[in-house]
Amino acid sequence: MTPLCHLAEKYGTDKFSKHRYTQIYFELIGARAASVWHVLEIGIKRGASLRMWEEFFPRAAILGIDSKHKNLITEGRIRSAWGDQSRPSTLVAAVEGAGPFDLIVDDGSHAAWHQTTAMVTLIHYLAPGGVYVIEDVKHGPNDQPETIVAQVPAEFESRMVLTTAEWDSGLLVIQRR
Ligand SMILES: C[S@@+](CC[C@H](N)C(=O)[O-])C[C@H]1O[C@@H](n2cnc3c(N)ncnc32)[C@H](O)[C@@H]1O
Repeated sequence: MTPLCHLAEKYGTDKFSKHRYTQIYFELIGARAASVWHVLEIGIKRGASLRMWEEFFPRAAILGIDSKHKNLITEGRIRSAWGDQSRPSTLVAAVEGAGPFDLIVDDGSHAAWHQTTAMVTLIHYLAPGGVYVIEDVKHGPNDQPETIVAQVPAEFESRMVLTTAEWDSGLLVIQRR
């Protein structure tokens, strides 16, 4: 288990217990945790992953976006804003004045077209060297991560990372070429 896996357990997000995603996040960005300044995550629920990011990135401002007002939280270095990832204008309003982001995580509705809409809208808010990660990308026989991949702008490259045998435990990792 990585230090980030332990924090996932501590705060109660399923990013380790169910999906084993924290191992990949640690590989992607763990070595430069101290120089991560801005993190954005779509999907707050009870705030577990936002608290995990806050402790793991000791200097970062953490911004969460959620379509349910009751999920918005403000504490420590965590701020949040209302936004619906299927509606680009609400995402742009939510990130106004924040970023650019070293890490953007989509853990929202998990619908492929929502994931695509949010990625096309928010990827331009990525800092140089930043990473955009879409969680729970479905990769069973009836699903096509290719529909998301096809919309990734040319200056970025993407790769699927399968962390468990589950059909919905795919991470799409997007970075500048
Ligand atoms: C899986 S939960 C997030 C869990 C959290 N990231 C964690 O690991 O602790 C998904 C969240 O996405 C939010 N959500 C669902 N549809 C959304 C949408 N269209 N736009 C923004 N947020 C959405 C839900 O309200 C819910 O809080």
